[in-house]
Amino acid sequence: MVQFKLQFLMFLLFAIKQLSNSMAQKSLLALTVYYESKCPDSKSFILKQLEPSMQHLSDYVQLKFVPFGKARSINYGDAGFECQHGPSECLGNIVQDCSLHLLGDRSDKERLEYVACEMYTEAGSQGRFDCVERAMLSSTEVEQCVLQGKGTALQLESEYYTDLVKPKFVPTVTINGIFNQEIQNNSQRDLFGTICSLIPDVPPCAKHYNYLALNHVLYV
Ligand SMILES: *[C@@H]1O[C@H](CO)[C@@H](O)[C@H](O)[C@H]1NC(C)=O
Repeated sequence: MVQFKLQFLMFLLFAIKQLSNSMAQKSLLALTVYYESKCPDSKSFILKQLEPSMQHLSDYVQLKFVPFGKARSINYGDAGFECQHGPSECLGNIVQDCSLHLLGDRSDKERLEYVACEMYTEAGSQGRFDCVERAMLSSTEVEQCVLQGKGTALQLESEYYTDLVKPKFVPTVTINGIFNQEIQNNSQRDLFGTICSLIPDVPPCAKHYNYLALNHVLYV
């Protein structure tokens, strides 16, 4: 009888632990980044704001990338696209769209690593597949996607989603599908702080606020 109770208790503890794990892993916030492949502001945002923030917040944020920015389709994509920083940017956008598509259900961390590689090296916009291969994707498949219509379809889809937001500035972010100018402005300077202001109770943010409060006490 005692034995049975102990086993039941262990089971209960195990179940509670599993439940709290799965609750902690549920992302609280969907962050979508609208950007373009050769844009210096997109590059610096992804490398200096997004990457460092996600090192702490990846458990709580679901990331989505839309590589299109201020491009536009010509004749519904039949005659290609026109991009803010020229034709090489269009190539970079379509390579990233194809690769993100082919990454399928791989983790946000892998998607971010891939996009950061493209933004840092500008490989895709130069027609190179360094980052594609580093992401363990097949460069043949990405090339086929770019050349054989699938890539155009993906870019038209990205154009559709970008048009819903109508970004005045690239990169633009939305949170849970909603654009807010104040969040946009703040996220360019301090994405980590901006996200934490929305989910202050998650451990990395609570730690951040404790640290700020401590500094305030020590240095005022
Ligand atoms: C956001 O920044 C823009 C440009 O710097 C500025 O004109 C605008 O007033 C700011 N808006 C808000 C809500 O902070």
